[in-house]
Amino acid sequence: MKVLSGTSNIKLSKDIAKKLNLKLVNTNIRRFNDGEIYVEINENIRGNTIFVVQSSSNPANDNLMELLICIDALRRSSAKNITAVIPYFGYARQDRKVVPRTAISAKLVSNLITNAGANRILTLDLHAGQIQGFFDIPVDNLFATPIFARHIKKNIKKNNLVCVSPDVGGAERARALGRRINAGIAIVDKRRPAQGKSEVMNIVGYVKNKTCIIVDDIIDSGGTIVNAAKALKEKGAKDVYVYITHAVLSGDAVEKIKKSQVSKLFITDSIDNSNKIKKSNKIQVISIASMLAEAMKRISNSTSVSSLFK
Ligand code: R5P
Repeated sequence: MKVLSGTSNIKLSKDIAKKLNLKLVNTNIRRFNDGEIYVEINENIRGNTIFVVQSSSNPANDNLMELLICIDALRRSSAKNITAVIPYFGYARQDRKVVPRTAISAKLVSNLITNAGANRILTLDLHAGQIQGFFDIPVDNLFATPIFARHIKKNIKKNNLVCVSPDVGGAERARALGRRINAGIAIVDKRRPAQGKSEVMNIVGYVKNKTCIIVDDIIDSGGTIVNAAKALKEKGAKDVYVYITHAVLSGDAVEKIKKSQVSKLFITDSIDNSNKIKKSNKIQVISIASMLAEAMKRISNSTSVSSLFK
């Protein structure tokens, strides 16, 4: 078993390798002057089970292309098995035709990864679970919920908790977290008047005098979370804490969170945000390295991955 890292999140790859007592595969990844990506593997990997860790986060296209080229290099170097470990699977929000004459980019990306030569996918909180079906190779989709539940139990010692989904689509995620921390749920009825904009229409559930825990898969512009926190406070919520798996944090999202009614935003390290959040004491990172390392170990040993969540 060997771990090769793309360049999107080297810190996470190193943390995973450390948990597995491994060194990252010696690789040379660089760009030519015109932006083309060059990957060279500097050690023998013939017959090995290889995990290539790369999030297709911003710059999404470069990082995706780098993943494809790494997989191609591994396949041509006679690796026995290649698992693409994609902590953040970009393009996942384009999983259907919302309006006519658009691409289903999540399916296209799945085809590209499979055709490059991946034998298996390991990912985390896919935006839509059914993307697993876009692949004809096995997909292990891990969940951050157990990590969040443990963190809440340890750090947010308040009674009267309620888990809040910031949109109807995330209700299942809020319910799963609620079950683990023994809390009820509320749902924000969110509308998107235009791409990248969100409006709160209503709140379903009782939040007055409660400590709200918003849980979501992605924070991008921050609009959804900022608006949800404002609406919850207007309905009498005491505090608003937020747990997000994938912190895309585009544009001025960090600044927006800073000025918002959010008490604290907890994100995972599926995307490397170390520079962006350096100056924000409202945003804290919870690592997923242990969970990914454990899942990789189990895949390599052909033991159950789903039992990680029982
Ligand atoms: C949408 O369905 C996702 O789960 C997130 O709620 C969304 O991507 C967040 O976007 P933003 O932070 O730009 O409002």
